[in-house]
Amino acid sequence: MPNLPRLDSSADTRTSTSRELTGIFTRTWREVSPAHEVVERDLHRTPPPHLPDSALHYAPRLRVDGEQPDPVAEELQKALLAELAAADVVVIGAPMYNWSIPSPLKAWLVLGTTVPFDTREQPLAGKPVVVISSRGAAYAGTPDAGKDHTVPPMVQVLGDSMGMAVSVVTADLTLATRVPAMAPLADTARQNRQAAEARVRERATTLGRASLMRRGTA
Ligand SMILES: Cc1cc2nc3c(=O)[nH]c(=O)nc-3n(C[C@H](O)[C@H](O)[C@H](O)COP(=O)(O)O)c2cc1C
Repeated sequence: MPNLPRLDSSADTRTSTSRELTGIFTRTWREVSPAHEVVERDLHRTPPPHLPDSALHYAPRLRVDGEQPDPVAEELQKALLAELAAADVVVIGAPMYNWSIPSPLKAWLVLGTTVPFDTREQPLAGKPVVVISSRGAAYAGTPDAGKDHTVPPMVQVLGDSMGMAVSVVTADLTLATRVPAMAPLADTARQNRQAAEARVRERATTLGRASLMRRGTA
């Protein structure tokens, strides 16, 4: 059964662009075959604890004397990692908050032991992950490109550090319908949104079919 964890982190539970796009991703994923499953994890409604102990960042063999993280926190970390390990594909809604990611997503991202530092081991290497970044303004290709601290850290941690195969979908200018001064950008925002939806559908279909092939159930 191809398995997709869907992670949402927007604090907007009614009109969120990233939630709509992760929703389109999961619907398209399920359309690939009746065997395709989804695990919903809402990091806003049920946030993980904010790094209760720095020792959780290190594999147990790399901990120094006296580092004994709370077993409950360690169990949760193991459960989150097991969810990732069991995934065929992961989709993550990552809105831009203050040029960065929402704090519950940051807390989830502390998956420490997956990057052991002392070996080249990358247990999640090659696993596809789709990061959907919604943002009020526009960044790529503008003078503000360097102010996007949402996508680069996600790519750094998931891609460079864990070796996952990261695809990024951005939905820019979402504030064009809320902020009157941005109204002239509404058409561009609509086009951005349509492009983001098309890319989400393409990723879900392509990765969904590839998951079936990998499992030999196609
Ligand atoms: C707390 C907060 C901080 C925000 N900070 C930024 C920001 O730094 N840059 C930006 O372009 N938009 C910012 N926005 C706008 C959001 O990125 C935009 O509304 C986006 O669509 C949020 O994702 P969502 O629609 O999935 O909730 C912020 C919104 C909130 C609620």
